[in-house]
Amino acid sequence: MTHAIVCDGLTKRFGAVSALNGLDLTIAYGELFGFLGPNGAGKTTTIKLLTGLLRPSSGTATVCGYPIALRSKEALRSIGYVPDNPYLYEKLTGREFLSFVGDLYSLPLGGRAARIDGILERLGLEEKRDELIQSYSRGMRQKIALAAAMLHQPSVVFLDEPTVGLDPKSARMMKDVLREMCSDGAAVFVSTHILDVAERMCDRFGIVNMGKLITTGTMADLRILTSSGAANLEDIFLQLTEVGPGISQPLGDSTD
Ligand SMILES: Nc1ncnc2c1ncn2[C@@H]1O[C@H](COP(=O)(O)OP(=O)(O)O)[C@@H](O)[C@H]1O
Ligand SMILES: [Mg+2]
Repeated sequence: MTHAIVCDGLTKRFGAVSALNGLDLTIAYGELFGFLGPNGAGKTTTIKLLTGLLRPSSGTATVCGYPIALRSKEALRSIGYVPDNPYLYEKLTGREFLSFVGDLYSLPLGGRAARIDGILERLGLEEKRDELIQSYSRGMRQKIALAAAMLHQPSVVFLDEPTVGLDPKSARMMKDVLREMCSDGAAVFVSTHILDVAERMCDRFGIVNMGKLITTGTMADLRILTSSGAANLEDIFLQLTEVGPGISQPLGDSTD
């Protein structure tokens, strides 16, 4: 069976800045993977490389068995992507927007409306579905962007800092939806710098700092790696990245 995601020496430089440096990473179907790192670590760059939005300076990435840099139609159809700042059509209602996304993916019309309504309901957006997106809160925008990314039932979904702006109930709802997608066999790749969310949401973690993957593992694996006393992901993260208490401080220029 092919893996959902395989990165082999994936590297991206922007001039003198090494945004991502030799990433080797394999992610299986069914996995909910948390990609963690401080601002400027290279998370967004990695996701853009894995969705074919950026070309690597060197190395390769395969997603669902497709070399993603080629951006084949098949490859793009098999992935879903929730950017950190989703581009939405303000003058469409939630339902209209999702129907438009359905057009982009040539989703069959039969059953489309029911699927859209089902997803809107699952994400707690049913009351807002006929209102213009311009009236949506940041959290609702995150949710409608997720709805758009999952509409075509992708096999791999990327979410860039998805829980920023979500209240606890919405974050829980999103976690449950992502978990269901994994149970149905999809791989989910979530980047975040908010550690308690990741700790509750993900099966396995990768910790990235200054463009380098420091380590990967489950919570149990990571605990073994760090010295005794690392009780939670935050302690582990701080030990492994050695950035001190100000983890939300940018290490370099960030595009966030
Ligand atoms: N388009 C770009 N041009 C130049 N530098 C960039 C660009 N995109 C990202 N970078 C740099 O690459 C590094 C990693 O950025 P990014 O992947 O956005 O980090 P993260 O998402 O982890 O906060 C940062 O130093 C950032 O300034
Ligand atoms: Mg980012």
